[in-house]
Order: sequence, then structure tokens, then C-alpha cells
Amino acid sequence: MLEMTSARANQSRIFFSTQREIDLYELEELCDAVGWARRPLRKVKKALENSFLLVSMWEVKGNKKRLIGFARATSDHAFNATIWDVVVNPKFQNKGLGKALMKYTIKKLRNSDISNITLFADPQVVEFYRQLGFMQDPEGIKGMFWYPD
Ligand SMILES: CC(C)(COP(=O)(O)OP(=O)(O)OC[C@H]1O[C@@H](n2cnc3c(N)ncnc32)[C@H](O)[C@@H]1OP(=O)(O)O)[C@@H](O)C(=O)NCCC(=O)NCCS
Repeated sequence: MLEMTSARANQSRIFFSTQREIDLYELEELCDAVGWARRPLRKVKKALENSFLLVSMWEVKGNKKRLIGFARATSDHAFNATIWDVVVNPKFQNKGLGKALMKYTIKKLRNSDISNITLFADPQVVEFYRQLGFMQDPEGIKGMFWYPD
């Protein structure tokens, strides 16, 4: 179900939603548009099913709607959530919609009483997240990664 009007762009309306039914092909198209490497759809489906929160952003024109942004969060449902796959269609970037998408995602997590929200920022978007209040290495804490050889 579509939930909230955030902005208007060229006579169309932009909505945010937490509906869990996301068309995997439409999401893949959105990720393709920003040049992300393709991931197996069956794994994306599983990742979405096992996420705590799915946030989608839609452009609605007449009776047509189009997925123009997405973010999801995994969580322990009590203390922590981690935000993944934040993306805005390039045609809709630099209009404040990425910021609105993130604020909406944070609000939903806060409504679930989650207090510790983390994410992994690609180097070119650190500033985008910093403007939203995310801190790098708070109190010297370092994110650490393990990858298979
Ligand atoms: C990162 C992304 C979600 C930002 O969405 P957007 O709609 O363009 O961002 P906004 O227009 O809401 O920008 C909000 C603010 O962040 C700034 N900003 C946006 N992208 C930025 C970037 N890459 N580097 C630094 N600042 C950035 C904007 O200038 C704006 O600042 P202002 O409020 O002072 O004007 C979008 O560029 C995107 O989808 N990129 C490709 C996918 C990606 O890299 N995702 C993040 C993976 S960790």
C-alpha cells in the first residue's frame, strides 16, 4: 500500500511505501540504472524476504507507478538495524529524494524503537550519509570485514 506523499516532480507524485511486495525485475532494473553488479534474483528474493524493513519510493503518474528508489534494513528487532541497498534512479537524483528516502527509513526504524542504525557507505557517498547524521568511526569504533579467500 502506498503511504505518504513527499514531493512533486513534473506533475507526477512521489510516494514512499513499506509494502513488502517488490517486483524483483523492477528492482533489478533500478539497480542496473546505477551500474550495480547483477546479483542472482533468487538470492535477492531471499534477502528481501529476510529483511526487517523494505522501503520503496514510487513515481505515480495517472494510474501508472514506477519504482524510482529503494532501501532495506536488516535487524535484530530490538537494538540494531543495518541499512542496505540505498538507491535512487539517476533521473531522480539530486532533488532531495535520496535524503527523503533515508529520513523515511530512519523514521520507520525509530518507530520500531531501534536505536542503533548502521550502514556501509561506498566511498563516494560518505558525505551524503554524513549530512544525514551518520558518523564515521564513532568513539574510534571500526567496522571490520571478513571475506572468503
Ligand atoms: C546516493 C544516492 C542515494 C543519493 O540520492 P540523491 O537523491 O541524489 O540525494 P539527494 O538529492 O537527496 O541529496 C541529499 C544531499 O546529499 C548530497 N549528496 C548526494 N549525493 C552525494 C554524493 N555522492 N556525495 C556527496 N554528497 C551527496 C546532495 O548534494 C544533497 O546535499 P544538500 O542537502 O546540501 O543539497 C544516489 O546518488 C544513488 O542512488 N547513488 C547510486 C547508488 C549508491 O551509491 N548508493 C549508496 C550505496 S552505499
